Amino acid sequence: MKNHRSEFEKVVYDGKFRLLISKEQIEERIRQLGKQISDDYRDKNPIMIGVLNGGFIFMADLIRHIEIDLEIDFIKISSYGDATVSSGKVQMLKDINADVKGRHLLVVEDIVDTGLSIQYLEKKFMELNPASLKFVSLLLKKDNAKVDYHIHYVGFEIPNEFVVGYGLDHKQILRNLPAIYVMD
Ligand code: IMP
Repeated sequence: MKNHRSEFEKVVYDGKFRLLISKEQIEERIRQLGKQISDDYRDKNPIMIGVLNGGFIFMADLIRHIEIDLEIDFIKISSYGDATVSSGKVQMLKDINADVKGRHLLVVEDIVDTGLSIQYLEKKFMELNPASLKFVSLLLKKDNAKVDYHIHYVGFEIPNEFVVGYGLDHKQILRNLPAIYVMD
C-alpha cells in the first residue's frame, strides 16, 4: 500500500499550502482581461508571445477569451533555476520563430517578481522593431520590483510570497494545481 503522499496530494488534501486565488477567481479575471485585450487589439492581428514554462496555462486560457484574430509564439527563459529566489540573471533557453518586425506584440507572463525577466524581454523585443510591445501578467509582486519595467495588464497583485499552481512550479512540480497557493 502507498504510504507517502505526493507533493500534489499534500497541497490538495493536507492543506500544506494556503489557497491564495481560487480557480473561479482566476477564470473570472481572465474573462475580463480577454475582453479588454479584444477591445484594445481589434483589427491589429497581434502576436501573443507566451513565456515558458510558467505562462503556458495562462496563455492557453487567455487566448480562448480573446475574440479577435491573433497569432501565437513562445519564448523560454529562466531566472530562478530550482530556487525560490531569483538568481538575478536571465538566460534565454528558446527564442521565438515569428517575424515580429512591424507587428503588435503582447507578451504573456505568469508572474512578475523582480521585473528582471520583463526588462530583459522588453529590451530584446524592442530591438526587433515591432509596431507595439505590451506585457500581460497573471500575477504581480509589486513590492519586490528591483528594476524599472512597464506592465500593461495585470490579473492580480499579490504579496511578496512564493506561489505555486496554475503553471507556476516549485522545483518543476505543482504546475498542474488548478488554483494558486502560497508555499509557506
Ligand atoms: P522576475 O524576473 O524576478 O520578475 O521573475 C519572473 C519569473 O520568476 C517568473 O516568470 C517565474 O517563472 C519565476 N517566479 C517568480 N516568482 C515566483 C513564484 O512565486 N513562484 C514560482 N515562480 C516564480
